[in-house]
Amino acid sequence: MIPIPGAVFHRVLDKELPLARRSQGAWIEASDGKRYLDASGGAVVVNVGHGREEIAQAVYEQLRALSYVHPTMFATSAVEDLAAALRAHAPGGMDRFYFMSSGSEAVETAIKLARQIQIARANPDRQVLISRWKSYHGLTMGALAAAGRTSFRQPFYPLLRDAVHIPPPYCLRCSYGLAFPACRLRCALALDETIQNLGPTAVSAFIAETVGGASIAVCPPPEGYWPLIREICDRHRVLLIMDEVMCGMGRTGQWFAAEHYNTVPDILVLGKGLSGGTLALSAVATTTALMEEVRANGGNFVHGGTFSHNGIACAAGLAAVKILEREQLVERAARLGSRIGERLHEALADSPHVGDIRGIGMMWGVEFVRDRGTLTPFPRSAKVAEKLWQTLFEQGVLLYKSVGLAGTDGDGLIISPPFVITENEIELVIEKLRTVLRGALNA
Ligand SMILES: Cc1ncc(COP(=O)(O)O)c(C=O)c1O
Repeated sequence: MIPIPGAVFHRVLDKELPLARRSQGAWIEASDGKRYLDASGGAVVVNVGHGREEIAQAVYEQLRALSYVHPTMFATSAVEDLAAALRAHAPGGMDRFYFMSSGSEAVETAIKLARQIQIARANPDRQVLISRWKSYHGLTMGALAAAGRTSFRQPFYPLLRDAVHIPPPYCLRCSYGLAFPACRLRCALALDETIQNLGPTAVSAFIAETVGGASIAVCPPPEGYWPLIREICDRHRVLLIMDEVMCGMGRTGQWFAAEHYNTVPDILVLGKGLSGGTLALSAVATTTALMEEVRANGGNFVHGGTFSHNGIACAAGLAAVKILEREQLVERAARLGSRIGERLHEALADSPHVGDIRGIGMMWGVEFVRDRGTLTPFPRSAKVAEKLWQTLFEQGVLLYKSVGLAGTDGDGLIISPPFVITENEIELVIEKLRTVLRGALNA
């Protein structure tokens, strides 16, 4: 094996990575001068575009004014201002924001907050978390237990305090073999059934991505799914956590994906694009009423972290929100996102190895299959997504991989560029994807 130079323990150990030097707009440049079109915004992170001077300036000014204060000792204007800015866009009545660093941490925070609300309601037996297969909520232990991606869970399974998983709303490969709308949303009714099976006072919360992302190659739910989930949660007094780490902050063409489905959760989780994809910043949103329930029951939410409610990261967040507002980038995400969908369908729909093209706003997935008629996936061992991804990478186009879509087999790629991408750049992505697909899969 060729040794990897340097002193870093990289995330990728099977190859050497190019050294990234600078980034601007939708482009990343490496130290050898090669340019990459960032058509996935990294891991569906960069929304306002790379190299935003305004964010750099906000961070610099905040850092000079106030470098660090502990969140149990001081409030900070930067944190207050970002919360107020988010409140103006958040779904009905969500008016309290608790800030952390990573999406995984925010998911952990949401799970603990739900539990603490249940304790405050004198329901200490409500301990079980229900989540969905083919979901992604992060890789820290609690978030991983909630996540439904087998390949990430398997090595650590013995260490997890597992959630109870129900099938996702994945119409292409419905777990019940049904078709929408005749199915009458069997996958949502599975939540009702599971809560009943676990017992009337066992379940604390249900967590799900508003729009399925990393583990399901983007999967918007069918009409009626979320209102039915909300009704089931209310009926059983189970708290609803919507994870919008990936699909929030304008990604779907609305500020929050929940708005597409007229559903307001009890707890909403944000990350990734919250700082414009710059500093590590995540958040949990809830209501004053729920916060007051916790407060009335003994004072504090037993949670936190050295870098929670961090003013520097929140300064980046506020600058990103201002850019989204001023440049109307959420509207642009809706408009150009539709264009991406149209072009993907025009360019790839007749490919024998494209099983599905799905998405919303600036979040699109293409699922590859060995046989389009039967939707038979490629075996995971063929590493089709990885090979397509690598060829595109070498040709200067960055997409995001999503695998394990059919059982543990199955391959997809996610197209989720910064909202500032131009129509010409979109054409470039589509053209490259089509050419690479033809070359690699003879399709
Ligand atoms: C829906 C969702 N939740 C949580 C996470 C975890 O976020 P992080 O990688 O910042 O810990 C991700 C990351 O991809 C995500 O997509």
